[in-house]
Amino acid sequence: MSTNNEGSTQGGATADSGSFDSLMRENRVFPPPAEFASRAWIKSEMEWEAMYRRSIEHPELFWAEAAEELSWSKKWDKVLEGTFPDPKWFTGGKLNLCYNAVDRHVEAGRGDKVALIWEGEPVGQVVKLTYSQLLVEVQRFANVLKAHGVKKGDRVAIYMGMTNELAIAVLACARIGAIHSVIFGGFAAHAISDRVKDCDCRVVVTQDMSYRRGAPIKLKEIVDAGLESCPDVRSVIVYQREPKFETPMKAGRDSWWHEEAAKVSAECPCAEQEAEDPLFILYTSGTTGKPKGLVHTTGGYAVQTYLTTKYVFDIHDDDIYWCSADIGWITGHSYVVYGPLQNGATVLLYEGAPNFPEQDRFWQIVDDHKVTIFYTAPTAIRAFIKFGVDKVRKHSLASLRLLGTVGEPINPEAWMWFHREVGHENCPIVDTWWQTETGGHMLAPIPGAIATKPGSATRPFFGIEPAVLTKEGDPVPNDHGGLLVIRKPWPSMARTIWGDDERFAQAYFSEIPGCYFTGDGARCDADGYYWLMGRVDDVINVSGHRLGTMEIESALVAHPKVAEAAVVGRPDELKGQAIAAFVSLEYGLDPSDELKQELRQWVAKEIGALARPDDLRFTPILPKTRSGKIMRRLLRELATTGDIKGDTTTLEDFSLLAKLRDNDD
Ligand code: WTA
Repeated sequence: MSTNNEGSTQGGATADSGSFDSLMRENRVFPPPAEFASRAWIKSEMEWEAMYRRSIEHPELFWAEAAEELSWSKKWDKVLEGTFPDPKWFTGGKLNLCYNAVDRHVEAGRGDKVALIWEGEPVGQVVKLTYSQLLVEVQRFANVLKAHGVKKGDRVAIYMGMTNELAIAVLACARIGAIHSVIFGGFAAHAISDRVKDCDCRVVVTQDMSYRRGAPIKLKEIVDAGLESCPDVRSVIVYQREPKFETPMKAGRDSWWHEEAAKVSAECPCAEQEAEDPLFILYTSGTTGKPKGLVHTTGGYAVQTYLTTKYVFDIHDDDIYWCSADIGWITGHSYVVYGPLQNGATVLLYEGAPNFPEQDRFWQIVDDHKVTIFYTAPTAIRAFIKFGVDKVRKHSLASLRLLGTVGEPINPEAWMWFHREVGHENCPIVDTWWQTETGGHMLAPIPGAIATKPGSATRPFFGIEPAVLTKEGDPVPNDHGGLLVIRKPWPSMARTIWGDDERFAQAYFSEIPGCYFTGDGARCDADGYYWLMGRVDDVINVSGHRLGTMEIESALVAHPKVAEAAVVGRPDELKGQAIAAFVSLEYGLDPSDELKQELRQWVAKEIGALARPDDLRFTPILPKTRSGKIMRRLLRELATTGDIKGDTTTLEDFSLLAKLRDNDD
């Protein structure tokens, strides 16, 4: 457990209290529709059982067979070497992930198949790229990177909106063995400079602007602000999304993507990568103020994202696949770019907001492009429910055959709505549990084989051995909450935190010796189905986005008027969790509504709008234990229920309770 703070369980999802459990009891079961199962890769639970058993008893055989479905320029010597915290997969093997995602489909005669369908936010802007066209664009951009001095192993930061060019930039890095570090386009300037400096990126790829609810988001200007403190960045390559906007360009550092691409050849060979060569770094929030740069490597990540996409989405040649996540998150890396493209799928990318210009935009897109597989977040589903059922009923949605969710627990009622109103009761829903650290799906139903239960991520993927344990590492009986761990290494797991092997070992492998600690609470029912219960550490999940409470606290205390701050999550109907901040001001300063707004805005400016506190309360001091730890449990209770009834015996200053209650607004 987190040792920084007392009572570190978040958002009421206590892993060891019965109250959350009882809310989540759910007895409805939905077997795979017969028609779906008849054409699925895996057609029955029996077939699944046999494959799962074999994958656990003979993991090396199982993963070797999966790896054989991809192209390797040199076969591996050993499937798995070593174990936690630094297992190595497919050692001795050589491959290129861009080759597997693009070239090999063209070489197999499928170059005319559409790889990417881009739908811009302004209605009517659509750009389709076939696999052959994608191959040309990727090679050109790989040559642009080379022309800017990028070599194998160099880090390239990418800060863009959802465009085909973002996928192209990512694939171009993979092609030449550069390590991409994609920074979500919603992050603020400060977050960009932190990430650029942490892994020492010398080249940044960005775009002029992107549309969000009709308004331009000037990405390049945000990059410029971020790079003010990054003098080592020598090149900024800018994709021009919208020529009608003026974009400031810095002479000697900045260049336009299209001008650079016109100067280079359209042929660029793939670099031969070792299986364990790093593929990318992706930053995620942890329990300290500093985001962790998780490092994913090439071979194992390729194999698991390929295989999970194939089986969990049951992907076939005629599917039109749409994952609504941004490429800036792990879901976009694994299930917009690498997984589906390795499977030769047609992938849809959408630039904008779900409610622009109207609240039925997503359903319009599904019908316009005949989307067959739609993968989204529970928070989006809850927003659709709010928009009203007429928005979705206006559309046919007849092309859909499979639905998926990711990012947070889905409440059974939202699941039922998705099933009924979007899936018309004949699309299986795959609730996929996994993390930035795991690289690919870990718990998820195989849709032709495993019956689903609303709110459960169901059973483990092949080769994955989860368990629910007590803090001491003892097994928890069925139907009781505990800590979710993974017992054995899997191919797509992160290998380290950039520059900090020790922090990696400490954060994930010290809690329960011998196991990977997920940071999530869960229970397993008598049928072997897992039910996720939320984070058990100081990470909160706002609309499916992971945020560290410490990160937001650090931003708050960086404000000159703030003396101390504590941030907790509280349940929120729409976002899953909302951010509640408690702030004590520097001596002599008075709280005011104005200052409250200023501080909320400050956090948005420091980290990004997604981290803006929903509630912000002033308090003379924060509740602490006698040993000086902030009692977040009390703050959480106050933020959630408006009162404090829990155990306060370790509180240092009891008079504070009354003050906290008084401050409750
Ligand atoms: C949560 C996103 C319940 C969980 C892929 C995890 C989920 C964190 C689910 C990882 C799910 C993700 N059901 N909770 N299906 N999927 N989570 O790294 O708390 O952004 O630890 O990866 O999201 O968030 P991350």
